Amino acid sequence: MTVDSTEDLFVDGLKHAYYTEQRLVDALDELEQTSSSEELKSGFAEHREETQNHIDRLEEVFDQVDASAEGEEDPVVEGMIQAHEEFMDKDPSDEALDRFNIAAGQKSEHYEIAVYGNLIPMADQLGMDDVADTLEQNLREEQDELDSLSEMGEEFDYGELSVSE
Ligand SMILES: [Fe+2]
Ligand SMILES: [Fe+2]
Repeated sequence: MTVDSTEDLFVDGLKHAYYTEQRLVDALDELEQTSSSEELKSGFAEHREETQNHIDRLEEVFDQVDASAEGEEDPVVEGMIQAHEEFMDKDPSDEALDRFNIAAGQKSEHYEIAVYGNLIPMADQLGMDDVADTLEQNLREEQDELDSLSEMGEEFDYGELSVSE
């Protein structure tokens, strides 16, 4: 597919977003399963539910722009998943893994915020107000999740991970 118009660029971005959200459903499940803190586990489980809705909303958007809902492999999300696998291979302690998982979640939210933060102004420029509104709903949930993870990171109890003087 040749990308030579704002519409093409928008649909290309949408396909990457769709792929990313689908991969994140499994990734959030992995984050939940590998976390020990109950607060963290339930946070990831809740955002996994929201992520299912993000996929539904993207399908709505594909429909609104008359394009077929299909994903296009996104190397950024694959890289984040690989980073988690590589960290797991280091046999981390529960605390270390929880702290890593908070950071991993934050990175994916920052990425999604960047994705929607670009698709929304493109939709606005193309005069697609309904599409922009739908994408805004996803963006707001990514921002809320980022805030909640950032708070958990700031208040994290390092326990046995503390550095001895
Ligand atoms: Fe999402
Ligand atoms: Fe997210």
